[in-house]
Amino acid sequence: MEFFIDTGDINEIKTAYAWGFVDGVTTNPTLVAKSGKKNEDLIKEIAEIVDGPISAEVIALDAPGMIKEGTELSKIHKNIVIKLPMTKDGMIACKHFSKSGIKTNITLIFSANQALLAAKNGATYVSPFVGRLDDVGQTGMDLIGEIRQIFNNYGFETKILAASLRHSQHVKECAMMGADTATLPFKVIEGLFAHPLTKNGLDQFLADHAKSNK
Ligand code: E4P
Repeated sequence: MEFFIDTGDINEIKTAYAWGFVDGVTTNPTLVAKSGKKNEDLIKEIAEIVDGPISAEVIALDAPGMIKEGTELSKIHKNIVIKLPMTKDGMIACKHFSKSGIKTNITLIFSANQALLAAKNGATYVSPFVGRLDDVGQTGMDLIGEIRQIFNNYGFETKILAASLRHSQHVKECAMMGADTATLPFKVIEGLFAHPLTKNGLDQFLADHAKSNK
């Protein structure tokens, strides 16, 4: 299973990447705005740190605009994945990029049918937003299971990139459902380390060591 960090914060990326199990980065216009940097500048900076897939989202809403913007972003580095919204124009751009061998991540996926359309158009990743479905009273994790079954039924190679994950339980459930990738905010990654028994156990080991070395 791939782990991406979902952030535009360079310090968070550097810290999490050093832990060794982070494979790539996802950004979105909200995260870029928070960083205070221009999209292209931020993506360049990230590409200098991380050797793995880096999703860079287009702002254009029309297919020609998405293709122009995505093509420019793809020139920044070989690891750039063009993030496109799940819209009719987004699907035209997705088809264009898959024919040109440029990787894509179709974002704002809220139904299995949307994921099916993206997979048919050759998307590299689909990003179902688990937490935002939970927010409106649905069980976001069900969507991961539905997409997994559909992709398995037809042998689609499109990867399920579970997004909008808010806590450790989401991460475990995604892994159990067979999501290929999970993109996680820094705080959620940090939460994966934590278990009270690990801390208690270590405190005890150190206390015993100190006693025996008096
Ligand atoms: C995914 O690519 C998105 O950037 C992200 O996971 C959205 O998460 P949010 O719903 O917490 O904003």
